Amino acid sequence: METHEINKRFLAHFQAKDHTPVPSASLILDDPTLLFVNAGMVQFKPYFLGEVPPPYPRATSIQKCVRTGDIDEVGKTTRHNTFFQMAGNFSFGDYFKEGAIANAWELITKSQDDGGFGFDPDRIWVTVYENDSEAAGLWQKVAGIPSDRIQARDGRDNYWDMGVPGPGGPCSEIYYDRGPGFGREGGPVVDEDRYLEIWNLVFMQDIRGEQSPKYGHPPIGELPKKNIDTGMGVERVAYLLQGVENVYETDLVRPVIARAEEFSGRRYGADHADDVRFRVIADHARSGVMLIGDGVTPGNEARGYVLRRLLRRIVRSVRLLGVHEPVLPEFAAVVRDAMAPSYPEIARDFDRISEVMRVEEEAFLQTLTSGSRIFDLAAEETKKAGGNVLAGDRAFQLHDTYGFPIDLTLEMASEQGLSVDEDGFRTLMEEQRQRAKADAAARKKGHGDLSVYRELLERHGETDFLGYTDLQATAKVIGLLKDGQGVPVVREGDKAELILDRTPFYAESGGQVADTGVLLGSGGEAKVVDVQKIVPGLWVHRVEVIAGEIGLDTEVTGSVDQTRRGSIARSHSATHLVHAAVRGAYGRRAAQAGSLNSPGRMRFDFTTPGPVSTDVLTEVEEEVNDYLQNDVEVQAYTTTKDKALELGAVALFGEKYGDNVRVVDMGEYSRELCGGTHVGRIGELGLVKLVSDSSIGSGVHRVEALVGTDALKHVRKEQLLVSQLANTFKVPSDQLPSRIEDVLSRLRNAEKEIAQLRTQQVLGSAGSLADKATDVQGVAVVAEKVDGDIDAGALRSLAQEVRNRLGSRPGVVALFAPQGEKLSFVVATTAAARDKGFAAGKLVPSFAEAVGGRGGGKPDLAQGGGSNPAGIEQAITALRGAVAAG
Ligand code: ALA
Repeated sequence: METHEINKRFLAHFQAKDHTPVPSASLILDDPTLLFVNAGMVQFKPYFLGEVPPPYPRATSIQKCVRTGDIDEVGKTTRHNTFFQMAGNFSFGDYFKEGAIANAWELITKSQDDGGFGFDPDRIWVTVYENDSEAAGLWQKVAGIPSDRIQARDGRDNYWDMGVPGPGGPCSEIYYDRGPGFGREGGPVVDEDRYLEIWNLVFMQDIRGEQSPKYGHPPIGELPKKNIDTGMGVERVAYLLQGVENVYETDLVRPVIARAEEFSGRRYGADHADDVRFRVIADHARSGVMLIGDGVTPGNEARGYVLRRLLRRIVRSVRLLGVHEPVLPEFAAVVRDAMAPSYPEIARDFDRISEVMRVEEEAFLQTLTSGSRIFDLAAEETKKAGGNVLAGDRAFQLHDTYGFPIDLTLEMASEQGLSVDEDGFRTLMEEQRQRAKADAAARKKGHGDLSVYRELLERHGETDFLGYTDLQATAKVIGLLKDGQGVPVVREGDKAELILDRTPFYAESGGQVADTGVLLGSGGEAKVVDVQKIVPGLWVHRVEVIAGEIGLDTEVTGSVDQTRRGSIARSHSATHLVHAAVRGAYGRRAAQAGSLNSPGRMRFDFTTPGPVSTDVLTEVEEEVNDYLQNDVEVQAYTTTKDKALELGAVALFGEKYGDNVRVVDMGEYSRELCGGTHVGRIGELGLVKLVSDSSIGSGVHRVEALVGTDALKHVRKEQLLVSQLANTFKVPSDQLPSRIEDVLSRLRNAEKEIAQLRTQQVLGSAGSLADKATDVQGVAVVAEKVDGDIDAGALRSLAQEVRNRLGSRPGVVALFAPQGEKLSFVVATTAAARDKGFAAGKLVPSFAEAVGGRGGGKPDLAQGGGSNPAGIEQAITALRGAVAAG
C-alpha cells in the first residue's frame, strides 16, 4: 500500500468519525520551546492547555515532523527517520481512553478491502503505563487482546510529554510482531526491533513541570479536560505494509537511493557500509527538502545548523560512494516527485528549494577542497616528522575552520596510512563547547552570573512599575553594578546598571522596546540607555553617568523620554490594530508570531495557512485607518486569565501568562492580553502606513508599518522621489512606469547591439592574427597579446576563428587579453596539432605561472585567467618553448 494511500485511509477513517481534518502545520511553527515540530499535537497545544477554546471537539491530521536527536542512528537501524509523518487523531475533552483504543484498533485490523490496514490481530501487542489497569482492561474488552500480549512499562516508555513543561499523560503503545526471524520472543519489553511500535495513544491529562513524570516526578497539575493525542508512524506502517526491510526502502524514500545508485555506479544491498550511506542520503535529502520548503535556510545556528548538518552529511556520504560532482539538486528533484502529491507546495516552490541546495553544496565542496589542502599539508608534516598520528589540534582546526566532519578526517587519514588523535580532538571540541555555552548564556542576558540579581530580587521584592500612568517618579537606588559587581557609587563616565525600588521606565518585553531617559540624583545625573528584566520582576536600568556621581541608597528622579515613549506607544497600539485586521482577514489561524514596537515603526509577524496577497494587505491598511477615525479610548484592565479568555482576548501562542492578566481593549475591535504601554485614544495614531511585507519562511509573514508623523514623513519622501523621477524622465508621474520600461528596453537593445559590433570587430582581426603564425618545429603557432578590453567569451570566439583559418595545418593558437589588473587567455589547437600530441589543456601549465594564472580545459580548447598581465610576453615565450619541446 502506497504511503499516500495510508495517509488517505487514516484521514478518511477519522473523518467518518466526526474528526475535523486539519492540515499539517509548518515544521517551524512558532513555539519557542521547540526547534522543529516533532509531533502531531504541537499545533494543538493551546487547546490542550485551555489557553484557547478548541474550534472543534475532534481533529485528525498528518503532521510533518522532524526529529534529529538520533541522527547518528539513521541508516543503521530499520526505523530512524529524521523526517517522518505522524498521523494523529485528537480529542479535546471529548472521547477518552475507550474511544481512542476502539478507533485505533478498528483501523489497523479492518481488512484492506474495507479501507483499513488489515494487520493480523493476532500479531498485535500493546503496552500500557505502569498500573493503568483501565487501559489494559479496555484492550481486552474492546479489542479482545489477551492479557499476555498486554505489557506494562514505566514512565520512561509509557509516559509522553513534549520534553518541556506543558501537556502530558500516560500512554499506550501499539506494536506489530514481525515474526521470529526478526528477534527474540517476549513482546516489546524484550525486543523493539522484532516488535515494532506503530502507534502511540496518549491519554493527555496532566501538566508537567520542569521535571518529567517520565522519571517519576509528579505532574504539577491537571489539564482542564481529559484529552486524546495519538501518533501513528506513517513510514513504519508503510514499511510493514509494503513488505520491505526498513523505512528507507518505502515508496517515498527508496527513489533517492535509486538515484544515488545511478550516480555512484554502486549497488544498494551489496555492501553494508555503502548501504548505510545510501540510506543516510535518502533520509536526509527528504528532510532537507521539507525543511527548506518550510523556510529554513542553512546557517550556523539552531535550525539552520541542523539543516546544514543534514545537507553536509549527504555530500559526505555521496563522496564516500565515490561521487565528487554536485548532487543535491538532483536528489531534491527525486524527493519532489515523491512528496508533491501530498505536499504540492514542494513542487510550487521547487526552484527556490533547489537553489538553496545548490548554493549550500557548492560552498561545502569549496570547503572540502580548501580543507583537503590543509589536510594534505598536515599529513605531510606528520609523515616528515616520522609520525603516524595526525595531531588532535590539526583535526580540530579542520573541523573548526574548514567544517570538516571528524569522520572525514579519519577516513582521509586512513587512506594515507595515518591515524588521528581522536581524544585530543574531542578534548578541544569539549572546551569549545563549554566556551560557546558560557558565551551564549552571557549574551542572552548580557550576563554570565545571575545570582546578584536574584539576591536583589529576594531582598527587595519585585520592582514597582509605575510607567502605565507616570513618566516621572522619584525612587531609591537599591542596587548598583559595574561590570556585574556590586559597587557603592558610580561616577561620571561610568557605564553601570542601576536597580530602583520603583520605576517609570518600561523594560523591553512583549516586542516593545525599552524606554530611555534620565535619572537625576542630588549629586549627579545618568542617561538611561536600556532597561531589561534580567530576572523576571527585576527592572535593570543600563545607564551612563554623565555628571557627578550616584550612590547606593540615595534617591533619584527618573524621567522617561516622553516623545520617544509616545512614539513607541503609537507603534504598539498600531500593532494591535493590524493584528485585529489580519485576524479579520484570515481568521483565527492567523496567529501572531512575533512583533517589534519601536519609535514610529512597528513590525508584525504572523502565521497564515496560505500565501498573503497584496490586496488583503491593502485592505488591512485601509481597515485600520478607517477604524482610527472612531478615535475610541484604549482601555487597560487586570482580570483573571479565564475571564479574559472568556471575553475573547487574544493570547499569544507560546507566551506564559500568570493567573492575573492585563487586557488591552480598543473598542470592540481589538482585545489582547498585553503588558505594554499604549496611547490614550487611537486617534493619536494619525496614520498607519504599511511599508513592506515579506515572507520570512513558509507560513510566516512579516508586515512593517510606520505610524503617525513617521508615516507622513515616509509618504512625503516617496512623493519627493516620484517627482524627482518625473522631472528626470520629463513625463507626468502617472506615465513613469511605461516611460521607464521603454527606456530600459532601449538600453537592453543598445547593449546587445554594442556586444554584437564588438564581437564582429574582434573577429575581424582573426585574419591578421592568423597571418602572424610562425613555424615552431612544424607547428603553426599564433601566440599573441590582444588589446582592446575584450571579454573571455569574445576571446574564445576569436581563438576559434583564428584556428579555423589555420585550416588543416598543425596549429596552436594562444591569445592573451589584459583587462586592467587581470587577464584572460585561451589556447586552441587544430585537429592536426592534436594528432601530434598537443593538447590545449596540457599546454596551460607551461605558461600559467608567468601570468599568475590558472586554467584548464579540453585538448581542443582551454581557457583561464591570471593576475599578472606584465608576464604575457614571458608566457608567450614559455608556450613556444613548450611547443618546440613537443
Ligand atoms: N504525541 C505523541 C507522540 O509523539 C502521540 O508519540
